[in-house]
Amino acid sequence: MSPLYIGLMSGTSLDGVDTVLVEFAEDTPSCIATHTEPYPASLRDALLTLCEPDAKVETMMALDRRLGEFYARQIRQLLAAAGVSPTRVKAIGSHGQTIRHLPDHPYPTTLQIGDPNTIAQRTGITTVADFRRRDMAAGGEGAPLVPAFHRAVFHRPGENRVVVNIGGISNITILPGDSDAAASGFDCGPGNVLLDSWAALHLQMPMDKGGAWAASGSVDEELLARMLRDPYFRTSPPKSTGRERFNLQWLQAHGRIDSAPPADIAATLCELTASCIATAIGHHAPQTTSILVCGGGIHNKTMMERLRHLTAPCPVSSTKDHGIDPDWVEATAFAWLAKRTLEGKPGNLPAVTGAQEAVVLGAIYP
Ligand SMILES: Nc1ncnc2c1ncn2[C@@H]1O[C@H](COP(=O)(O)OP(=O)(O)O)[C@@H](O)[C@H]1O
Ligand SMILES: [Mg+2]
Repeated sequence: MSPLYIGLMSGTSLDGVDTVLVEFAEDTPSCIATHTEPYPASLRDALLTLCEPDAKVETMMALDRRLGEFYARQIRQLLAAAGVSPTRVKAIGSHGQTIRHLPDHPYPTTLQIGDPNTIAQRTGITTVADFRRRDMAAGGEGAPLVPAFHRAVFHRPGENRVVVNIGGISNITILPGDSDAAASGFDCGPGNVLLDSWAALHLQMPMDKGGAWAASGSVDEELLARMLRDPYFRTSPPKSTGRERFNLQWLQAHGRIDSAPPADIAATLCELTASCIATAIGHHAPQTTSILVCGGGIHNKTMMERLRHLTAPCPVSSTKDHGIDPDWVEATAFAWLAKRTLEGKPGNLPAVTGAQEAVVLGAIYP
């Protein structure tokens, strides 16, 4: 039997943690079991507070440990439900929860918490973590890291594909059909993060389920134009971003949100996401023949409808039609990245992150 790997992903949305148990035949993953656990409200609130600029180091340290325990419990549950012994699992790839991502700092750095020592100790499984900082040490943005996995599983000769991941932040991977052309990609801008924050404020809900609220409003074109003037959208890749830039304060700084009906703002935020993705594809991959979507944003029907409209006539499909459920692509990517690390193989794409070279990512906690 081939060894199994576990991927553990908790993204910018702070919606919770996705764990996936995967078997690999070479680079091709087969999903054996999955488990999603939303963060309990107290944990999510504590993490949101930690994302504020003035958070204390002691608070961060305690949460690092608390999250490690939480992640370890999710892995034990995943294995118990699948009836698989931890001894069959070669490694866990744990992304961790991003608390800061500062690629433009004079000392570029990024921080993902969820103590890997605790995960390894509680599960008895070798854990690979801290994937992003090695890429940064090599001069890269440390993000996005999923494009190498996208290339391994979704590249098809003769087809110019773009993989769009709509998490809290949205990112694209450009996979030219000409195998000699390098894959590229970058963070486009906000994915769901602004709409989630807006829904929390006005609906007391963590998201606009299905995009129904956004569908009930009308796009405020003036506000949309103001937001799209943010220099991030015009910056050339490599580039990556996070909650530090795209947050409620950023939205408030563009005005109009107190005067317009909240549903119109929701519609505008949905349009902003679809628009920054479509513009990124139009500028950087005009020859695209097929768009594959993954990440939680695929469940927002309004966002998907707008993306289809703005990228027409290019066909837009779910990664499910290409072998991997859209909700599990990122977690599977971190299982794959852990495998790469154990095999001593690079996990970053310098053309994506801007690193000087391809490097083996992460640290191994036996
Ligand atoms: N049924 C749904 N309707 C609308 N949006 C959804 C739905 N399910 C998930 N989402 C969106 O997807 C987000 C989670 O996506 P995910 O890919 O896990 O992002 P991240 O990697 O940032 O955690 C949620 O915060 C929400 O905005
Ligand atoms: Mg998530």
